Amino acid sequence: MYKEKCPGIIIILLFIGVISVGAFMFFKEEENKSKDHLVDNETNLPKPKRESDVSLEETLHSRRSIRDFRDRAISLEEVSQLLWAGQGVTEENGKRATPSAGATYPLEVYIVANNVEGVEEGVYLFHPEKHNLSKILEGDVSEKLASAALGQDFIAQAPVNIVITGVYERTVSRYGERGERYVHMEAGHASQNIYLQCESLNLGTVTVGAFGNEEVIEVLKLNEEEEPLYIMPVGYPL
Ligand SMILES: Cc1cc2nc3c(=O)[nH]c(=O)nc-3n(C[C@H](O)[C@H](O)[C@H](O)COP(=O)(O)O)c2cc1C
Repeated sequence: MYKEKCPGIIIILLFIGVISVGAFMFFKEEENKSKDHLVDNETNLPKPKRESDVSLEETLHSRRSIRDFRDRAISLEEVSQLLWAGQGVTEENGKRATPSAGATYPLEVYIVANNVEGVEEGVYLFHPEKHNLSKILEGDVSEKLASAALGQDFIAQAPVNIVITGVYERTVSRYGERGERYVHMEAGHASQNIYLQCESLNLGTVTVGAFGNEEVIEVLKLNEEEEPLYIMPVGYPL
């Protein structure tokens, strides 16, 4: 009796097993489609492009500071491209898109996201080596950032603000006091790259240096050893 029923039960169990595994794989795939850029607290950024229809000379010629933005979201691809231009790794040895005194890389780059497709409002730190973002703060702080920058309200209107900070110790420990000026020079390189990348993506930006250091530190909850150097609101020009 037992011997007769056994093959039938095994076939039924095998059938249920195959269906369950299939269903699991299907739903997992569907879930990954909508969340494939999210890894716990980290947001993976799409691979940056290295081609463009716009020449470097055209971007140099047409670059202007833009302070009026449309009420339009920017994509994660665009954010990825801008961060790569500003501080992305471009060689396997870790070297980046901008020069750095002694390759000490004192800059940190954050985004204050208030209208980026697929990204919750918040403050995120860019990790050049992993080319991803980690969330530092929840919620939109762009109004507070605009207040910290003497009320320059286009900061609050932009869908995203890129904030460049400097950790002086990384460069000063190698070059002494002179390292401080190197950090400021590097912020200029990163900012210019972001300006030009904006231009080639039909986005607009302006580099903002007028803000209260302590106020920006407070808004972004920066570390003690970190100084804010530039705020760059980015969006589609009006
Ligand atoms: C170090 C520095 C600080 C700046 N700070 C501000 C600022 O706080 N607010 C602003 O609207 N523009 C700021 N700008 C942008 C300049 O006003 C702008 O570059 C200048 O008017 C020239 O215009 P263009 O960039 O369109 O060529 C700053 C530029 C630099 C280089």
